[in-house]
Amino acid sequence: MKLQFLKCFAFTAVFLGLQQTSQSFAQENKSIPDQKWWKEAVVYQIYPRSFKDSNGDGIGDLKGIISKLDYIKSLGIDAVWLNPIYASPNDDNGYDISNYREIMPDFGTMEDFNVLLKEMHKRNIKLIMDLVVNHSSDEHEWFKQSRSSRDNPYRNYYHWWPAENGKPPYRWSFFDVNSDAWKYDAQTNSYYLHYFSQKQPDLNWENPKVRQEVYDIMRFWLDKGIDGFRMDAFQFASKDTTWPELPKGFEKNIIKYYGVGPHLHEYLQEMNREVFSKYDIMTVAEGAGSSPDDALLFVDPDRKELNMAYHFESVDIGKHVKDFGLVKYKEIFSRYDEKFKDKGWLSIFIANHDQPRMVSKFGNDTPEFREISSKMLSTFVMTMRGTPYYYNGDELGMINIRFDSINDYHDVDTRNKYFGLKSRGGDVKAFLEEQKQTARENGRTPFQWDDSLNGGFTTAIPWLKVNPNYTLINAAAQEKDPNSVLNYFRKLIQVRKANPILIYGKYTLLDKENPDVFAYTRELEGKKVLVLLNFSEKNTKANINLNIKKAKVLIANYGNVTKDGSLRPYEAVLYEL
Ligand code: GLC
Ligand code: CA
Repeated sequence: MKLQFLKCFAFTAVFLGLQQTSQSFAQENKSIPDQKWWKEAVVYQIYPRSFKDSNGDGIGDLKGIISKLDYIKSLGIDAVWLNPIYASPNDDNGYDISNYREIMPDFGTMEDFNVLLKEMHKRNIKLIMDLVVNHSSDEHEWFKQSRSSRDNPYRNYYHWWPAENGKPPYRWSFFDVNSDAWKYDAQTNSYYLHYFSQKQPDLNWENPKVRQEVYDIMRFWLDKGIDGFRMDAFQFASKDTTWPELPKGFEKNIIKYYGVGPHLHEYLQEMNREVFSKYDIMTVAEGAGSSPDDALLFVDPDRKELNMAYHFESVDIGKHVKDFGLVKYKEIFSRYDEKFKDKGWLSIFIANHDQPRMVSKFGNDTPEFREISSKMLSTFVMTMRGTPYYYNGDELGMINIRFDSINDYHDVDTRNKYFGLKSRGGDVKAFLEEQKQTARENGRTPFQWDDSLNGGFTTAIPWLKVNPNYTLINAAAQEKDPNSVLNYFRKLIQVRKANPILIYGKYTLLDKENPDVFAYTRELEGKKVLVLLNFSEKNTKANINLNIKKAKVLIANYGNVTKDGSLRPYEAVLYEL
C-alpha cells in the first residue's frame, strides 16, 4: 500500500463519482480487518467564525473558507469538521440553534453552503457537520411554542417542572458551576432545564416526536451530500426524568451522573436504523461516558450506533502537562487503546475550540520551544491509533492569547463563570489568571494568515482580538520556510498516508514510567514503527530495548537524529524498525 495507491484510488474515486462509497482510501488489504475511509481520514477542524472573513464585517464566513480551500487541501487532510453554521442568536457561538435548516447570516447563505460543499467534494475533501441536538436555542420556534402554554403541542419538546411542585431537584449548569440548570419561566409558572446556558434549553429526547424531528434534520443535510456528523454533547441527551436527588458532590463526577442516561443507546440505535444506516457517512460522539467500557458501547460495530467517539479524560486531566505529569497522560491513552484494540474506534485529539491551544497546554509556547514542541505534538496526534482530529491554527503553532481583562472575552463560559463568581464575592482576579491558561477563547482567536493588518483575517475590527504575535506566527511566512511547523505538518500527513501501519497498526506503550518520554510502537503485518516523543525541555533518553541503529527514520522534528535513544528537548522521531 504505497502512496501511489492511495492517490490513485482517490483520483479514480473522484473520476467515477464514487467519493460517497464505503470504500477505504487505502487499497484494500485482506490482512486488515474492517478497513474504512473514516479510519484513514485526517480530520481538520475549522472554527468558521475565526477562519477567514470575506466581506469585511470582522467575522469569518463560508465564502472565507471557500477562498482558502486550496490551502486546506494543501495540508493533505481528508475531511473538514465545521463548528455549527446554522441560524443562531449566538449565545454560545452557534451551539444554540434557532433554525437547523438555515445558515447563520453572519456566515452567509445556503447558496454559499452549496458552493462550499461542491468545492470541497471537487477536491475530495469530506464535510462533517456539527449537530447540536441535546439542546436548541430558546429562540427556536419549538421552544417559543413550548414555553407559551402548558398545553401547547410543543410543550413536551423540552423538560419542564411545574413550580407548584416546589423547586426541582438541583441540577448543575456547565456554564456556571453554582447556578441552577433549572430556570424559572414566569409565563407558565414552571422551570425548564438547561445543562448549558439559559438560552440552550435541553430537548426532551423521551418524546418520539423530538427524535423524528431530529432525524428529519439529519436527512435534510445528508441529502445535500454531507459526509457525516459530530454529535455535540449527545451523551447528555437521555435523562432520568424521575429527576432523583443527586448525591452531594456529584458535580465532581458530572459525566457519571449526566452522561449515558437510561435510554441513550436506544436512541442511538434508533438513529442509526432510521438515518445513518442509509448513508455512507461518518459519525462521531463528543464525549462517551466516563470510562473506556462506556466509550466502547457507543462505537462497537455490532451494536450499530456510531462510528467513533472521543473521550475527554486526556484533555480534562489538568491545566498543563507539567502539573499532571506525562505518566498519567500516557496511562489514559494506553488504557483506552487497550479497550479498543480489537473492536470499535476512537478519535485522537489534543485540542479543539473548547480547549486552550495545544502547544500552550501540552507543549511549550515560549519562543525557544514553540516550534519544536508544536511539531512534536503534531507527531503524536498523527501516529497514535485512532482518527486524528486536528484543530485549525495548530499547524502554525498558534498559542494562547491570555487576555488580561474580562472585557476581551466573549465566551458565555468564561463570562458566566466570572460574573457568577463576582456576585458571590469570589476571587475573580485568580479566576482571570487561570483563564489565561484554560479559557476556550485562547483557541478561538482569528487564524493568522499573514503579517498584514489583523493577520490577514479581516479588514475590519475582528469579532475577537487577533493574537498580536501574528507578525511572527502566520501561514504566509511558514509557507516559505521548508522547516516550518506548517510544512512539517504536511510531511507528517504524507508519512501517515504512506504507512498504513500508523493507521491500523497495534499500539504498545514502552518505557511506561518515564516522566518525560512518550514511546510506543505500532505493528502491522510483521512490520514495526517506533515513535519517540520527548515531552520535556530537557535532554533525556528513552529506555527501550530495541536496536534502532539501522532503523530507517520516517520523520524527525529536528531533521537529524542520533539513533541512540537520546532525545533533545521536545524531540520527535519516527523509526521504521
Ligand atoms: C460542546 C461544544 C461546546 C458547546 C457545548 C454546548 O461541548 O463543543 O463548544 O459550548 O457543547 O453546546
Ligand atoms: Ca464576514
